[in-house]
Amino acid sequence: MLVIIKEDYDAVSAEAARLLAERLRNKPNLVLGLATGSTPLGLYRELIRCHREQGLDFSKVTTFNLDEYVGLPPDHEQSYHRFMWDNFLSHVNLDPRYVHIPNGMVRDIAAHCKWYEERIRAAGGIDLQVLGIGANGHIAFNEPGSSLGSRTRVKTLTRTTRDDNARFFATFDEVPRYAITMGIGTIMEARELLLLATGESKAQAIHDAVEGPLMARVPASMIQMHGLAHVIVDRAAASRLTGEYVSSLEEGTLVRRPLGPGER
Ligand code: F6R
Repeated sequence: MLVIIKEDYDAVSAEAARLLAERLRNKPNLVLGLATGSTPLGLYRELIRCHREQGLDFSKVTTFNLDEYVGLPPDHEQSYHRFMWDNFLSHVNLDPRYVHIPNGMVRDIAAHCKWYEERIRAAGGIDLQVLGIGANGHIAFNEPGSSLGSRTRVKTLTRTTRDDNARFFATFDEVPRYAITMGIGTIMEARELLLLATGESKAQAIHDAVEGPLMARVPASMIQMHGLAHVIVDRAAASRLTGEYVSSLEEGTLVRRPLGPGER
């Protein structure tokens, strides 16, 4: 696990975009796992900019979103479908046929979840999964106590998560109670993880996920078991970390070339 601490939200977004763009340039048919929420918005903005200004090409990319509320139609203002199309998907040259977001309106949720897992497998598995983290340590909608081996399924949202999301709905009663979410086992099968967090409200969750014991009470702590995970946080989200961490991808991963004559 490589933990990278950046100054602020914009720097976190830029670093995450740099990593993702590099992976995409190396593999044009990348299978990308995407997250919603306020955290990755800056990353999406930056990717849109790279697409417009540098021609970053998404035409062969396949995407799988982590989750969707049960009971919200795709065109509902607060659905994750709408969020993704408004904030990212429609601003780059993604082929809509390659976009996958769980459908919260299906009648047979169990069959839909099974189908979703099969689509991920048929695409060859997820190459890079973008993740946010809940203040309670959730990843996707795997709330505290979720099975660490779980697959895509329906989950009941905790009161804390519903409270966190209440700001987007007119009344608390309108906040959905259930969501379809990739499981922790599903997420762990992605070849690479990119977890982003910013702000003081995430400091405890980041501490627990990165430096705490591995436990179902903190679903995000499972990233400690992943072979290739990057955690990019700002100073505020890193404020409860006690270990020594790097400040850039290069610092953490650069294989330095041997010094030439006269260099030191
Ligand atoms: C969203 C998701 C959630 C969020 C988390 C943080 O697809 O999977 O786990 O990543 O709730 O949300 P924000 O970024 O809004 O703080």
